[in-house]
Amino acid sequence: MKGYRLPAGLLLGAATASAQIEGGNVPHNWNSWEKLGKLHPEAVGTSIQEAAGHWKNWKEDIDIASGLGLETYRFSIEWARIQPKKDIVDRGAVEHYRDEIAYMKERGIIPLLTIHHFTNPNWFERMGAFEKPENARYFLKYVGIIVNYFGDLVSDYVTFNEPNVYALMGYAGQGFPPGEMNLFKVRRVLSVMAGCHIRAYEKIHRMREAMGYGDTRVGIALHMRAFAAMKPFSIMQKEMSALSQYMFQDNCARAFMNGEFRFPLENLAKFRPGSYCDFTGINYYTRSHVVKPGDDLTRSQDPKNDYGWEIYPQGLEECMREAFGISGKPVWILENGVCDNTDSFRSLYIYDHLAVLARTKVPVERYYHWSLIDNFEWLDGMSKKFGLVAVDTERGTRSVKKSGRFYREIIRFGGVTEEMADRYLAEERYHM
Ligand code: BGC
Repeated sequence: MKGYRLPAGLLLGAATASAQIEGGNVPHNWNSWEKLGKLHPEAVGTSIQEAAGHWKNWKEDIDIASGLGLETYRFSIEWARIQPKKDIVDRGAVEHYRDEIAYMKERGIIPLLTIHHFTNPNWFERMGAFEKPENARYFLKYVGIIVNYFGDLVSDYVTFNEPNVYALMGYAGQGFPPGEMNLFKVRRVLSVMAGCHIRAYEKIHRMREAMGYGDTRVGIALHMRAFAAMKPFSIMQKEMSALSQYMFQDNCARAFMNGEFRFPLENLAKFRPGSYCDFTGINYYTRSHVVKPGDDLTRSQDPKNDYGWEIYPQGLEECMREAFGISGKPVWILENGVCDNTDSFRSLYIYDHLAVLARTKVPVERYYHWSLIDNFEWLDGMSKKFGLVAVDTERGTRSVKKSGRFYREIIRFGGVTEEMADRYLAEERYHM
């Protein structure tokens, strides 16, 4: 196996999301969703109220992140903790997050704060969440609260995690709350969220500037896939693949990052085209093969993870080019990782995906591995493992996996040596 050097200046980190790791009986829509019995059978025996117990264990988790040598850490703040009710700000929750952020900074870790990662407070969900343009003001008020209380500690923000996934999973019959099947709502929700992002982008900059900071960076985390025709020579399938790519991600990238609203998205408040991101934030996991629009098919001959998603490192380059071509801003890979329940090919996955960054010509500034610790995988609970660090949910203990040790050495060296590759990857194999 060959070694490689990563681009100078590329910061390496890991990512998590509050609801997926914290635990607690928090009044948000995923907690309610679980209580309604909406999770998959795989989730049985685990609970979002426990998750990885990070709310109690945050100090140890940040110590672990620091021990891995993370240069930056992407985490989210739970809206329902900050505003459990519409007109309340829970100062205790604010203090808790401030302590955590201050602690990571003391350890030299640059915080990247995600404002919204799939979960809504129940009060907001009951009001129709992002289905209604008039609800944008509640989100923007929350954004104001975030900057007000955390703006002195944090310069880098992700407004929304994967708005495209949020809208499709929740409103196109994919099992996320509110569990609807209504394509008009998918369009509306995405259009409202794009408007919220644009306004939040401006607001965060404005507020931090008024606080005397000139280093603010704001963007979204767009879920991107590589798309391909199932039959590579089928012109029809190629067109369907291109259409899927446009509908799922490129059109969203244009709306959120550039303020360009094209069909089927709606420009609900006459936003002007412009630049509404300081980085091109993408989450990349896999490739989808397509026969007709909306398909997410895999081929039997391709390597897959324990979720059955194809492992296709080259797709990272394809998505980076595509998104950079739209926004023109340096790429931040905000999530990339693999469901590997036995940690038997995660190191190889990391090696293969970082190798793409070692040779790319696209400017790339950050890479966040998903995830720092094993976490609550939404519909599948704790049964699917993405962590560099294992969590024993019964005892609450953590242990760094082999892949975590590999990642630590990569961060230290700024790449992979031939000797490291031999030592870590000799036994690693993807399965079909
Ligand atoms: C989401 C994460 C999730 C990961 C793996 C991403 O789409 O942002 O919350 O855990 O995929 O499924």
